[in-house]
Amino acid sequence: MRTLVLFSWLVTCGTLGVESINLTGITDINTLLNDIIGALDKSDFDISCTMNNLLNFTAINVNEDIHLNITQLITKYNYPVEEHHLTTKDGYILTIIRMPNSGPPVYLMHGLLSSADDFVTINLPNSIAYNLWLDGYDVWMGNARGNKYSRKHVTLDPDTDKEFWDFSWDEIGQIDLPTTIDYILEETGASQVIYAGHSQGTTAYFVMCSEKSEYNEKVALMISLSAVAYVSHMKSPLARLLAPISTEVELLSQLFGVNEVLPSNTFTNTFTTVLCSEPNLAYLVCSNIIYMLCGFDCEQTDLSALPVLYGHIPSGAATKQMLHYLQEIDSGKFRKYDYGILKNLEVYGTNAPPNYNLSKVTSPIAIFYGDNDWFSNFTDVKILINELPNVVDVYEVPFAKFNHMDFLYAKDLKTLVYSRMAKLIKTYSSNAKR
Ligand SMILES: *[C@@H]1O[C@H](CO)[C@@H](O)[C@H](O)[C@H]1NC(C)=O
Ligand SMILES: *[C@@H]1O[C@H](CO)[C@@H](O)[C@H](O)[C@H]1NC(C)=O
Ligand SMILES: *[C@@H]1O[C@H](CO)[C@@H](O)[C@H](O)[C@H]1NC(C)=O
Ligand SMILES: *[C@@H]1O[C@H](CO)[C@@H](O)[C@H](O)[C@H]1NC(C)=O
Ligand SMILES: *[C@@H]1O[C@H](CO)[C@@H](O)[C@H](O)[C@H]1NC(C)=O
Repeated sequence: MRTLVLFSWLVTCGTLGVESINLTGITDINTLLNDIIGALDKSDFDISCTMNNLLNFTAINVNEDIHLNITQLITKYNYPVEEHHLTTKDGYILTIIRMPNSGPPVYLMHGLLSSADDFVTINLPNSIAYNLWLDGYDVWMGNARGNKYSRKHVTLDPDTDKEFWDFSWDEIGQIDLPTTIDYILEETGASQVIYAGHSQGTTAYFVMCSEKSEYNEKVALMISLSAVAYVSHMKSPLARLLAPISTEVELLSQLFGVNEVLPSNTFTNTFTTVLCSEPNLAYLVCSNIIYMLCGFDCEQTDLSALPVLYGHIPSGAATKQMLHYLQEIDSGKFRKYDYGILKNLEVYGTNAPPNYNLSKVTSPIAIFYGDNDWFSNFTDVKILINELPNVVDVYEVPFAKFNHMDFLYAKDLKTLVYSRMAKLIKTYSSNAKR
């Protein structure tokens, strides 16, 4: 059971890849486990809600949605959908999903180990993408380089060329986001987009606007769902445990996989789908695991949706993306990738990597945060808010247990999050009109 729980932790919230763990490499797995369990605050468990859900729970319908890709899902539910393929200046081929409509363009960007699926897997009444489309917006959903829909390159092969995986969210912010924004503006003839990002989708945005400040003018409003820039107060036990060894690239590569973490392959998908389709395990294991890494929120978890969610995550990422976050937990800074002194000197001309300059992020920014978000702690978000020059809204989701994944999957996402987004988008989209 312990092993099962550990493995499940590992595949949830994308912390580690099951298939890439060489257990012989970890000298003391029991110590690791005990540390994780010890790090959990038992009062975070909501026993009565858990028991209640468990008693209510009879069977999960095994649902064909588990196996549909995003285009098939959107088509199944009778919305229009287009697949666009863009090539970045460094050769990555990105798949962008559009739900075309006559209103202003809204660009949605997913988090670490996720994909555009995040915005449609829960369907109505809560899906952010479907709601935006029904409200008349032209919805564009990005896919970062390396995820299951953007695992392509003009010359490099992700399965055999290590160089394919030589990127972190710095490159996603400096190259993938600007390429996508320019493409959307070109296709729609609009002068600005509305941008909404979740988690790493916010990190990459702050990178883009600080490094390529001309992009500030191409965005009428940025909505930050669970902002991740400073992360030193991240509570996620496993992430905290690993952060102090974030420069031990060898060891971490053994844990994470040398180049790629949690690709969306048959093994992980079968593993998570089977595990989460098993009635009692589904609740006990799947939901509690999400909580353990992302914050506990029994009430907002839709049990019947779990198998579908697990069929769509994880979607793959480069090991360097993980390492870059772990470095930030350790350093307390929002700065470029740390290669170690020697290579830093070569790459940046300084011993330490340079900080991202947040005062250059001048586009209007709305910050949405949850009080029970273990990845994006409000203590860290406040530091970010103080450095951003143009914050136009700070919104505390009015639900005490609201966690990191709730921004995508909560049972009451429409009333708790979407309604506020819709109001802001309406106000700021006048510039983004055709
Ligand atoms: C696992 O790690 C051990 C010790 O580091 C090594 O001897 C062994 O070859 C590795 N196994 C695999 C499958 O990589
Ligand atoms: C369990 O079912 C009852 C009756 O349908 C409902 O009132 C209650 O809210 C459910 N509990 C949970 C945790 O969903
Ligand atoms: C989804 O699957 C269909 C059928 O295999 C394929 O035509 C389509 O390109 C896929 N879409 C994406 C985004 O992978
Ligand atoms: C950050 O950007 C601001 C605005 O462009 C500039 O005034 C400031 O000097 C920059 N700070 C650093 C450390 O480069
Ligand atoms: C945020 O960080 C503070 C200080 O480390 C901690 O006490 C609190 O529990 C954290 N909150 C969450 C939701 O992680």
